[in-house]
Amino acid sequence: MRIAVFRKAHFNAAHRLHIKDWSDEKNEKVFGVCSNRYYHGHNYELEVKVIGEVDPITGMVIDLKVLKDIIEEKIEKRFDHRNLNEEIEEFKNLNPTTENLCFVIWKILRATLDEKFELFVRLYETPRNYVEYPA
Ligand code: NI
Repeated sequence: MRIAVFRKAHFNAAHRLHIKDWSDEKNEKVFGVCSNRYYHGHNYELEVKVIGEVDPITGMVIDLKVLKDIIEEKIEKRFDHRNLNEEIEEFKNLNPTTENLCFVIWKILRATLDEKFELFVRLYETPRNYVEYPA
């Protein structure tokens, strides 16, 4: 039996949406207040979905404690209370939109989780705005 298990997590981070090659005017026109040079914060909510076969002995797809520890270690410790633009290597030349952050998180978790699992990452930037990868 294949089934999906979920783990929720949370972190706070600051960012601004900004393309270095563009003028301040163009950045402001495209990204509005999100391009504010003094940054702004979000309470990001993360949902990690892992799909796999239920082990016939343990009855589990993945030990949720193991998944929790991976998310804490690889994502929360790395991103919580950080300035994404200034402190996170992946965003030195990549706009820290919810889309890009979601994909960066997926890549980190994908590299950690056993290949036998399917992995989906949903990231809420606000309670109403969220993205999911893969689509
Ligand atoms: Ni923002």
